[in-house]
Amino acid sequence: MKHLLVVQHSKTGATRALIEAAMDGMRDPAIAGIECRLLAALEASPEDVSWADALLLGTPENFGYMSGALKYFFDSIYYECLDHTQGLPYALIVKAGNDGRGAVRAIERIVSGLAWRGVADPLVVRGELTGEAREAARELGMTLAAGLEAGVF
Ligand SMILES: Cc1cc2nc3c(=O)[nH]c(=O)nc-3n(C[C@H](O)[C@H](O)[C@H](O)COP(=O)(O)O)c2cc1C
Repeated sequence: MKHLLVVQHSKTGATRALIEAAMDGMRDPAIAGIECRLLAALEASPEDVSWADALLLGTPENFGYMSGALKYFFDSIYYECLDHTQGLPYALIVKAGNDGRGAVRAIERIVSGLAWRGVADPLVVRGELTGEAREAARELGMTLAAGLEAGVF
């Protein structure tokens, strides 16, 4: 079994809906041997990150940055994970009103310090949650899980 950890924060549910679509993709019947765990960003610990073979992060953009909750996650795990999670494959979903770039930039800066490895372009969804956006999230989840199963990452 390979372990896929999903760490997310959502205040009004839009990020959460995208994360759920991504997890639906991870659980596609064509993919076997992947155990997914979903945690709130305020609850995830360094031990949870150590458990993970790959990570999906989800956050809204707030004030041109990631949510405070996801920042708290990084603050909580950074030094404990610095030495032993290098190369950890990750993907990112950002739900924004009309931008999202500030959140992506801030997260990429922190994960480059951790030496985690982005394995897909960040998915940034702006404005209304469309079926297309949910489908993109589903595909991202499926790609992450399938790549992990196949040992691509
Ligand atoms: C306090 C606050 C600050 C926000 N700042 C930004 C921002 O800087 N850029 C942006 O594109 N959207 C911004 N938004 C819009 C949210 O990113 C957007 O509503 C998002 O869908 C919320 O996701 P959630 O439902 O998962 O909480 C902000 C919303 C709030 C409530």
